[in-house]
Amino acid sequence: MRPFVVGVGLALLLTIGTFRGAICLQNGNGKKNSVPETGGKPAEKPLAPVRGGSTVLPPRNTSNSTTAVATTEVSNATQSSALDDTQLQRTLLKPKFLTENSSTVVAQTGAASRISCLVANLGDCVVSWIRRRDYRLLTVGLSTYTEDLRFQSLHHVQTGDWTLQIKYVQLRDAGLYECQISSHPPKSIFINLKVVEAQAEIAGASEKYLMLNSPLHLECVVQQSPVDPVYIFWYHDSRMINYDIDRGVNVTSDLPNKHSALYIERASRAHSGNYTCAPSNAFPANTVIHILNGENPAAMQHGHGRSLNMLSCPSIWILIPSLVMFVNFNTN
Ligand SMILES: *[C@@H]1O[C@H](CO)[C@@H](O)[C@H](O)[C@H]1NC(C)=O
Ligand SMILES: *[C@@H]1O[C@H](CO)[C@@H](O)[C@H](O)[C@H]1NC(C)=O
Ligand SMILES: *[C@@H]1O[C@H](CO)[C@@H](O)[C@H](O)[C@H]1NC(C)=O
Ligand SMILES: *[C@@H]1O[C@H](CO)[C@@H](O)[C@H](O)[C@H]1NC(C)=O
Ligand SMILES: *[C@@H]1O[C@H](CO)[C@@H](O)[C@H](O)[C@H]1NC(C)=O
Ligand SMILES: *[C@@H]1O[C@H](CO)[C@@H](O)[C@H](O)[C@H]1NC(C)=O
Repeated sequence: MRPFVVGVGLALLLTIGTFRGAICLQNGNGKKNSVPETGGKPAEKPLAPVRGGSTVLPPRNTSNSTTAVATTEVSNATQSSALDDTQLQRTLLKPKFLTENSSTVVAQTGAASRISCLVANLGDCVVSWIRRRDYRLLTVGLSTYTEDLRFQSLHHVQTGDWTLQIKYVQLRDAGLYECQISSHPPKSIFINLKVVEAQAEIAGASEKYLMLNSPLHLECVVQQSPVDPVYIFWYHDSRMINYDIDRGVNVTSDLPNKHSALYIERASRAHSGNYTCAPSNAFPANTVIHILNGENPAAMQHGHGRSLNMLSCPSIWILIPSLVMFVNFNTN
């Protein structure tokens, strides 16, 4: 549907640009899904100033910093009649990129990433985004061309920004993206998207054993995260426990350092279970806490208990019987 609408739109633009064709409509034939000039397609027509059509055009920046135009074009434009000064200026300023070429944008898996492309003096030109990995045409103007609807272009009129937004960034999205202006010849800049996987990590083993009434201390950090988390939630099984201070749970977070700590002074049996550290913008981490008490094998009561805090199991289940045997053997 959308490509069709764009096709119609482009055709309309062509009609509006009555004279010898618009300055920037090399894709104005309405061909769908043709990659704009990625294969070095020859330009169709020589440049000629366009008249009218201002309703569809975004405002242009006519400041001094923009490149002056060739005199021949000006004289031809003058010949071609009643264009007033502003129209002339608008038409003849060459589009240019304000975003740096070959820059890198870092994105985080699962988050939305925005790759900005600032263009000045776009005129009647259209900005397209192309993924270089497979020359896939992603967006043309404000329309998404790919079936992958995570891609979308966002336009900010005042700044001339044509941002490519990628939602739910995945590792495979990494690579070069081309922001192309449909001028004659087309101009492009290439932005490298680097994708990092943000992952929470709880220090220590994935299962921890500790004695009844001993302190429970868990530390969680977010790795590989270019963006600070907005929050770091702790869950005990399915219950969010960040604010459970009256149940003896003390959670302190240091978001700029992507760190959070959970502290329980005296762990009771009720504190055993699955603890999850879930930052706003990273894969969660979890650890299972076992609270050992008198119901456990006799050896646990013999001062070895405390050190078991540190042990990662299930190797403990091999250790316990042998400890029991060892103790039994010694007492005999
Ligand atoms: C126009 O360009 C000038 C100089 O490049 C810049 O200072 C100004 O902010 C621009 N204005 C707009 C509306 O983009
Ligand atoms: C444009 O250039 C003229 C002279 O070259 C200068 O006087 C004027 O301040 C400039 N305007 C802007 C907006 O830069
Ligand atoms: C402008 O006119 C000259 C001759 O009048 C011609 O040679 C030239 O190709 C024209 N340029 C454009 C861009 O139409
Ligand atoms: C950006 O760099 C590429 C090569 O890395 C070059 O082909 C292209 O012309 C450059 N674009 C601009 C606008 O300078
Ligand atoms: C929670 O832990 C922090 C840091 O360890 C400490 O400063 C704070 O006093 C504790 N709060 C309570 C209520 O124990
Ligand atoms: C702990 O909870 C997480 C998420 O809630 C789950 O993925 C994981 O399988 C659980 N682990 C155990 C041992 O129940």
